[in-house]
Amino acid sequence: MAVHVVLNQKGGVGKSTIAVNLAAVTADVLNHTDDPDANSPVAAVSVDPQGSAVWWASRIDDLPFHIVQAHDDIAGLRRLKDLSDIKHVYVDTPGWIDLNSEDETSDPLGRGPAADALRAVLDVADFVIVPMETEPLCFQPTARTIRKVLEPRGIPYLVVINNWDPRDGRTDLDETKAFVRANRWPLAHTVIRHYKVHTRASAEGTVVTEYAANRVSLQARQDFDKFALELNIGGGR
Ligand SMILES: Nc1ncnc2c1ncn2[C@@H]1O[C@H](COP(=O)(O)OP(=O)(O)O)[C@@H](O)[C@H]1O
Ligand SMILES: [Mg+2]
Repeated sequence: MAVHVVLNQKGGVGKSTIAVNLAAVTADVLNHTDDPDANSPVAAVSVDPQGSAVWWASRIDDLPFHIVQAHDDIAGLRRLKDLSDIKHVYVDTPGWIDLNSEDETSDPLGRGPAADALRAVLDVADFVIVPMETEPLCFQPTARTIRKVLEPRGIPYLVVINNWDPRDGRTDLDETKAFVRANRWPLAHTVIRHYKVHTRASAEGTVVTEYAANRVSLQARQDFDKFALELNIGGGR
């Protein structure tokens, strides 16, 4: 079984969107098609204490994968790898403010229950996905996430650019890629494009596999299919 954690200190970069939709496209491939009552081998887990109200939690009973709100279950998070019958776990995490960024001795994840949950989940993480957007405001929080949290722990990771709108032209995209490459971070070939349908879906608690089969929605979904495939064939590394 593999635990994928979606992490970036910065809020609003697409952590929740990516965690839930990777679970959706993975379940779409792995769930039993001939037995709708069979348990899904896929789970999306949130350790974001603020996420519980707005997250996909209201759909616990009817999404095609397990959905678990676990920010207050540190013991359960430590045992995440023991879940039998689950093959893929995608963990959504909260952003955090690195108040002590200049203080080398303090833990960059901070203190308190939310930080404890983050540490617990990073202890069992097999792989971390670091989403970022094509805007300079995103660069330093992404750098701190990688340098202070991931590199010291030695957890393998992949940066993925999310929410890029092709109508804005390539300049911001190329600058962001150059920034990632200058830092020698592994970068996913897949760029998750901006589609309004994603924004609407997260507000409504739906996932890409439920989108209407029109051209734009299928393109929007394709980015997640492609990224899930890339994760499993080791792209960008
Ligand atoms: N590729 C995308 N296209 C359109 N909207 C997106 C995309 N990714 C994220 N969003 C929207 O941006 C907002 C922030 O995304 P979210 O996943 O909640 O970020 P985070 O969990 O990192 O705070 C949400 O409204 C979400 O619907
Ligand atoms: Mg979130």
